[in-house]
Amino acid sequence: AATVRYEAETSPAVCEGTIDSNHTGYSGSGFCNSNNAVGAAAQFTVTASAAGTAGLSIRYAHGATDTRSADILVNGAAVQTGGDFPATGAWTTWTNKTVNVPLNAGSNTVRIAATTAAGLANIDYVEV
Ligand code: GCU
Repeated sequence: AATVRYEAETSPAVCEGTIDSNHTGYSGSGFCNSNNAVGAAAQFTVTASAAGTAGLSIRYAHGATDTRSADILVNGAAVQTGGDFPATGAWTTWTNKTVNVPLNAGSNTVRIAATTAAGLANIDYVEV
């Protein structure tokens, strides 16, 4: 099936933080700058035509030098705990991290939740 992009700034996505647009290179009209707190999340609702494993591609930028990590939860279950979002060198340098996730047919909730007090990297979108 064709890849579908889900922007962090587009409902029903939820950004626990602010939608910012001060670092160029993002897709759409902005990106999610999460609160700097453990548990702060960007949440997406993604649709699958059939149940099965899919590659979830997360576009992010991380211009600081600390380690940013996050749990990836699908429909409430942790698929990856403390997954690393390595620094990209600049807040305007965006890259994709791919995680294989189990999806149900139809609607699925994908939650990317920070595991350190620094919060998330800036999250632009996910694609499935
Ligand atoms: C800076 C940057 C933000 C980023 C933040 C962070 O303030 O401008 O876009 O989210 O650092 O460290 O998370």
